[in-house]
Amino acid sequence: MIKVNKLIHKLREKINICNYKYYVLNKPAITDQQYDLLLLKLEKLERYIPLEKKQKSPTQNINDSLLKHYKQIAHKTPMLSLQNTFNSQFLYKQFICLYKKYINYKNFFCCELKFDGVAINLLYINGHLIHGLTRGNGYIGEDITHNISLIKDIPIKLKGNNIPQTLEVRGEIFITKKNFYYINQNFLMQKKKFCNTRSAVVGLLRMRNINNYANLLSFFCYGVGFANRNIACYHTTLLKQCKTYGLPISSNIISCTTLQEIIQFYDFFKTNRHKLSYDIDGIVIKINDIFLQKQIGCNSRAPKWAIAYKFPSQEKSTILKQIFFQTGRTGIITPIAYFKSIKISGVKICYATLYNINEIYRLDLKIGDIITIQRCGNVIPKIIHVVKSKRTKQHSNKIIIPQFCPSCNAKIINNNNLLYCSASFSCKAQFKEYLKHFISRNAINIKYVGKQLIYRLVEKNIISNVMDLFALNKKQLRLLNLGETTIQKILLSLYAKHKVYLHNFLFALGIKNMGIVTSKNIADHFVTLENFLKTDKYHLLKINGIGLKTISYICSFLKKKDNIQYINLLRQKIDIIYLNITQ
Ligand code: IVH
Repeated sequence: MIKVNKLIHKLREKINICNYKYYVLNKPAITDQQYDLLLLKLEKLERYIPLEKKQKSPTQNINDSLLKHYKQIAHKTPMLSLQNTFNSQFLYKQFICLYKKYINYKNFFCCELKFDGVAINLLYINGHLIHGLTRGNGYIGEDITHNISLIKDIPIKLKGNNIPQTLEVRGEIFITKKNFYYINQNFLMQKKKFCNTRSAVVGLLRMRNINNYANLLSFFCYGVGFANRNIACYHTTLLKQCKTYGLPISSNIISCTTLQEIIQFYDFFKTNRHKLSYDIDGIVIKINDIFLQKQIGCNSRAPKWAIAYKFPSQEKSTILKQIFFQTGRTGIITPIAYFKSIKISGVKICYATLYNINEIYRLDLKIGDIITIQRCGNVIPKIIHVVKSKRTKQHSNKIIIPQFCPSCNAKIINNNNLLYCSASFSCKAQFKEYLKHFISRNAINIKYVGKQLIYRLVEKNIISNVMDLFALNKKQLRLLNLGETTIQKILLSLYAKHKVYLHNFLFALGIKNMGIVTSKNIADHFVTLENFLKTDKYHLLKINGIGLKTISYICSFLKKKDNIQYINLLRQKIDIIYLNITQ
């Protein structure tokens, strides 16, 4: 017994640490599947101990505190979690067989997709949105009404004239894979990259004000918490009714009768999930009859009438062939792992970023190692761990950390294991990446000038600074073997006076840490470029959401004469559009 108690204690501690890393730090320490297995193990061990002795156990609470500093409001009905299963045998034992006596009831089950986002509770009174709450601790949620009311999929007012007076709508806020890619590419600086779609949703919802970025988020309704009257007899018809109120529901919902049909639905989406525009991590099986759902009821954590049947985590093993070092726009040098190509959920991959050399040390990587790769959020490949037991002396080689920039050969500066190229735009890699940033949609947005063209122009030494780009001529472009019409289009686009908003102009300067969100906050605060150029540390401190590091990068950028000269040159080619100027 003492042994079991010790094990329970250890498991609880481990799970609490994982919860902290997942919910508070937003940096998961283990995969969802590993987490669910730990929880399942603990649940099994705790089965025979009395309830009062497990009140503080992670098996009893549903902590989803994402946004602790927001106003707290109680849910009308608790927002519970879901019990999980990972294989069809357990699905049968844990769930299906409990309902054996209903085996012949047609459409007894309902199958839905399990969206990988953030749960939300929307309260409508007389059809008007009153508030939107996160799950919080399951009983009290955090009020994020302001942010969620900007999401296009969430109606401020419901449609139709048969709406219950009080209606609590339950659903998931998620981000499409395309928007996830977009946000990681354009919105946030390298260091803040989100590792999966769920953490991107949390990141956006955490913003004090998501303003223009709310249109990157989507919403699906998957149920109702409280309604002052019955809406429907079946879960499937309830969702259809919600649709008539203007609430979006997924088109992938089925009602079914047998375990085989459930497995068929599961298998189909396990194979085809990569074709969906958003991430899912499994399916949810619910009992369709709402009256029966109420009879079956819930335990403290989850309803007994529903279960999540999760997909296995997308991990595969392969051989690490090489580590490349890549110089980025701001001179940061990132190690990139190159491995024998593997297919994960239908997509062939052979590269994964390692962020910085600490990651090499943390994983204790060696060339030739067998490594496990996971596609986080179905998008970014990541090395999860090294299979050390398969390491052999003759096949494993130490990774050599470079002393000189792989692009320009300048000396590398090592600042606490962050590697920087000491050259600036004389380093072709840095210059190429800066130009790519400069022409991008959130910066100057120059049509017909793309990444490939930029790379070729720099590689062939045709341009070596931004002004050279604006001064390009036919003769130079012909060196790239481009067609005459293409050349014409590029030149017309480059010679036209570019009109950009101040925040896009500021973003185009490529100041370290200054993403589009910070640029927008700064532009809103200063209104004109002149005001910004005159600024100092104390002024910048007054702006919401700018950290001390970013402030110091801005100040040192503005101190350099070359940068001011560059801005003045740019202004000959670019017209800045000012918002909010009273003339
Ligand atoms: S029903 C009372 N249906 O999964 C049961 N949940 O792991 C309420 N989720 O917090 C949940 N897709 O945010 C339900 N089709 C779906 C879902 C779904 C995603 C989330 C939900 C919940 C989590 C539990």
